[in-house]
Formats: sequence, C-alpha cells, structure tokens
Amino acid sequence: MLVAPSILSADFGHLAEDVKAICNNGCDLVHVDVMDGHFVPNLTIGPVVVSAVAKVATKPLDIHLMVQNNSFFVDLFAPFKPRYISFHIEEEKHPHRLIQKIRSLGIQPALVLNPHTPPEAIEFLLADVDMVLLMSVNPGFGGQKFISSVITKAKRLKLLIEQHNPNCLIEVDGGVNDGNILELKEAGVDIVVAGSYVFGHKEGYQKAISSLQV
Ligand code: DX5
Ligand code: ZN
Repeated sequence: MLVAPSILSADFGHLAEDVKAICNNGCDLVHVDVMDGHFVPNLTIGPVVVSAVAKVATKPLDIHLMVQNNSFFVDLFAPFKPRYISFHIEEEKHPHRLIQKIRSLGIQPALVLNPHTPPEAIEFLLADVDMVLLMSVNPGFGGQKFISSVITKAKRLKLLIEQHNPNCLIEVDGGVNDGNILELKEAGVDIVVAGSYVFGHKEGYQKAISSLQV
C-alpha cells in the first residue's frame, strides 16, 4: 500500500518543514487538496503555495482538484510537474477531452468519485486513466469520518478495472487510519490518502506512515 499524506492537515505556518518531514519519513506521494469554494464549501491552496511545496518535496505530487473549472486549474498546476492530477467526474462535462489534455502535459490523469457516485459512471473512461480516486468522505474538509461503503465500491471498481485497464490504480481518500487500512488493502486499494491521521499521530510521521504501508 502506498501512502499519500494530505498536506491539508499540515501546519501551514511551517508548511515547508512539514512537507520535508513527510518526505523524509517514508511517504510515497504528497497529496495536495485544491478547493475553490464553489465545488466544495472550503478554499485551500493555489499555485503560489504549491510552487513552494514543489520546491521542497522529494516525493511526487498528487494533485486532487475539487473545483468547478477543471481545465483552468490544470493549466495553473501543470508547471509544477505533479505525477497525478485528479478531477471529479461530477464536475466535468467533457472528461475524455480533459484526460487527453492532462496526458499531453506529461501528467498522469486520474478520476475522482464522490461517495455517492457509482463506479459504473466511469466504466467507459477507465481505459484512458492511470488512477481512480474514491472519496470515503464528502470532499471539503480533513478529519471527517470514514464512509465504509467505499469498501464495496472499491471491490466493484476493481472488477471493472480488471476488465478495462488492469494497470489502473485505486486510491482512497478520507478518514483513512490504522483501523480501516487492512480492509482497504483487501478490497484491492493501491494508494491511501491520510491527512489528520498522519499529521496528528502522537508517535510521529514515520510511525503513522509505516502503519498504513501494509
Ligand atoms: C477531503 C480531502 C482529503 C482530506 C483527507 O476533501 O480530499 O484529502 O484532506 O483528510 P483526512 O485523512 O483527515 O480525512
Ligand atoms: Zn484529497
């Protein structure tokens, strides 16, 4: 299991130190939550802050867009050369076009599904993406409770992936901790995002991250 700590739960007064610390303590990716105050009721970080993060991160960036105008935000963040840019299927009328655009910029495209969106909604896009991110909370905030129906959804998605694109990875985001990591693994999940669990862990980042690398 790969682990992508969400910097939404980092200390923004010491963001560079926190990003360096998770990278030095075994994380696999750095998850960046971009919220625009329209698609979700919260506003987070833009290109100025991501530029500072990209300068100190020694692990690839995993940019999760929670925005209305996806294409505009892809242009804003592409210069930082993230490994992934993921966008919500609920907010995109022309997903094939956007997937092609992200790939043409040398970035791996990924789709995100809100907790209520069935995996079948993206069946005919699976062949074109490298990852699907399943939300296990309603997007907008860190520290929410894990919605356990994501387990059933991950298993159903895994079957579709085997049929259409066996190389496509499954990522789960929201409320992940050491209490649900094993069932996520068993359901076929490849990457977990964890914000409050990693940044709030009493025994430090290394312990927190390694406890999810099952
Ligand atoms: C929620 C974000 C998540 C969030 C995860 O909209 O996409 O990445 O920061 O935080 P935790 O792990 O605290 O649920
Ligand atoms: Zn996220």
